[in-house]
Amino acid sequence: EWTMGSFKDIEVERIRNLVGPKGQVIGAVSGGVDSTVAAKLMHEAIGSRFHPVLVDNGLLRLDEASRVKERFTRMMGMDLTVVDASKRNLGRLAGVTDPEKKRKIIGNAFIEIFVETAKEIEADAARNPDAGEIEWLLQGTLYPDVIESVSFKGPSHTIKTHHNVGGLPEKMQLKLIEPLRELFKDEVRKLGLELGIDAELVGRHPFPGPGLGVRVMGGVTEEKLQIARHADNIFIREIRAAGIYNDISQAYAAVGEERAVGVMGDRRYYGRILYLRAVQTVDFMTATFYRFNWDFLDMVSTKIVNEVVGVSRVVYDTTSKPPGTIEME
Ligand code: XMP
Repeated sequence: EWTMGSFKDIEVERIRNLVGPKGQVIGAVSGGVDSTVAAKLMHEAIGSRFHPVLVDNGLLRLDEASRVKERFTRMMGMDLTVVDASKRNLGRLAGVTDPEKKRKIIGNAFIEIFVETAKEIEADAARNPDAGEIEWLLQGTLYPDVIESVSFKGPSHTIKTHHNVGGLPEKMQLKLIEPLRELFKDEVRKLGLELGIDAELVGRHPFPGPGLGVRVMGGVTEEKLQIARHADNIFIREIRAAGIYNDISQAYAAVGEERAVGVMGDRRYYGRILYLRAVQTVDFMTATFYRFNWDFLDMVSTKIVNEVVGVSRVVYDTTSKPPGTIEME
């Protein structure tokens, strides 16, 4: 009988044979389900010869980098390298408003930073007499990602360029290792539990590679990023508290370019419009907006306007996919 437990054992064995007794592997992690499960599997297989890297591009959620660091080092015993590239990335995004241009800049900066970091780790690793060169790149590609990148090739078919598939291995002359490439999301979650990763992480909603860059519409500024982070934190916290996190496939707060008038005390207040989005989906190709009850939306909306400086209105997105997409940009 085929179980996730046997998949894990077989895969660990396969990785060991593939990489060999001295082989080393590097891989980017995001704190999300796929990269965490792939990393944990790799760590089980080859221990400290796997080098996880988190690139903080300045577009992560509230406290995300420090939480991922804590989780990897303290709870999972891995030596995670965190690179703070937020200044560089946000500097390049300054004044850029076109969604595709934003994605390209974020994607290119990521590759550049990851390649630099890999060189440093490699120089360090070369001092270890028990280890060889870094020859492998780990990617947490799932089966649906494989299908999608085959069936949507040319730019004419690309609705949005997803930057996390492809490009990197060629640039780095590394061999690709993708232990999850035959699995669907629900199977990756089962594998994660099998590997001892806690249920909260394993059940996390997806977060896009370009991060808050696609949730801050138009120009990316610190002011809008702070609003997005703070509001998102409140929204997700309340969703969890209401016990509906697992009914929802993905939820987030986004910040618009435009402003609207509100009143604060007895004064007119010209603040940002904050968009809440939550969807249910099986495959992320189509999705319907989540039917919150009104009292919940009322409570969240009041909290956000009261607590998040700079917000005058909260709007709930009732667009399904299609015609909308899940992210704003
Ligand atoms: P859309 O907005 O295309 O999103 O309906 C579908 C799913 O993909 C995620 N998404 C991305 N994930 N890199 C990623 O890793 C990307 O560039 C990217 N763009 C969208 C989105 O969060 C949703 O789960």
